[in-house]
Amino acid sequence: MNGKHEPLTEAEMVGFRLNPALLEQLRACAPRPARILDWGCGRGRAVALLRQEGFEAYGIDTDLAVLRNGHALLRGRGFEPERLLRHLDDIRTFADDSFDIVFSEETLEHVADIAALAHESFRLLRPGGLAVHSFPGVRRLVEPHLRMPLVHWLGPGAPRRLLIQACLLLGHGPRPPWPEAHDECGRPLPLAGRAALYARYLEEKVHYRRIAEIASIHDRVGFRVRHRIVGPVPAWAGLLPKSWPGDGFPAGNVLLLLSKPDIIAPHASTGSNPS
Ligand SMILES: C[S@@+](CC[C@H](N)C(=O)[O-])C[C@H]1O[C@@H](n2cnc3c(N)ncnc32)[C@H](O)[C@@H]1O
Repeated sequence: MNGKHEPLTEAEMVGFRLNPALLEQLRACAPRPARILDWGCGRGRAVALLRQEGFEAYGIDTDLAVLRNGHALLRGRGFEPERLLRHLDDIRTFADDSFDIVFSEETLEHVADIAALAHESFRLLRPGGLAVHSFPGVRRLVEPHLRMPLVHWLGPGAPRRLLIQACLLLGHGPRPPWPEAHDECGRPLPLAGRAALYARYLEEKVHYRRIAEIASIHDRVGFRVRHRIVGPVPAWAGLLPKSWPGDGFPAGNVLLLLSKPDIIAPHASTGSNPS
């Protein structure tokens, strides 16, 4: 599979699948949702797939170079890529209440300003619309980007860098190792240099948060918040405080489900559940 720094190809799309938990949510929506926004769309793989399925899908991302790597494929399929894949700076060009679904996959942990995302997604969703975010829980044992145990349990600083060095020595690390972890001749950087690179990535690009914190930010904006853990939770995890498995221990992804309430005129109530 090509990385996000290579143009997206049709061959890659053959093996691409949407997150099953998200698919389940899309299928459960009735009537069938029309307009969908992928927040953190990268090269727009999900946008291309959803368009093929007949959805009016758009994507938003902060990395213009990565977005552009999806243009050729979309253009080849007859779409106008600049209209479908947009930079976050252009988010205000989408009208209020104009989406049925906003979703993200493996993105929320990269978003520095979650409150801004919560406000904007609330603005963009129609009343009754749904936001679905799938992201790694803070208490996962193995940090999924670096594939190293426990490194995200420590804050920035020397202990974390030492743990990263130990992980590298024991053979843990991104697969394949990142190009930036090599010198110009393709040789791996010295251990300390690689550890510093990976530690800097965690500090600058990954923001782990407790589910309670994320939930309360969305609750304040007006969303109805639910979440569940998708992934293995062994029976013995029940012996731990509830928040541990609730935050993804030992290997779970959080599936955050946020509904924007319907606006019901008081006199129009029929006694049925509006949501
Ligand atoms: C792990 S990638 C997910 C890519 C995409 N979901 C896919 O399947 O190809 C995370 C993406 O989130 C983007 N990102 C980070 N912060 C963001 C933000 N505040 N708003 C939108 N996208 C953001 C990154 O540029 C990156 O492309």
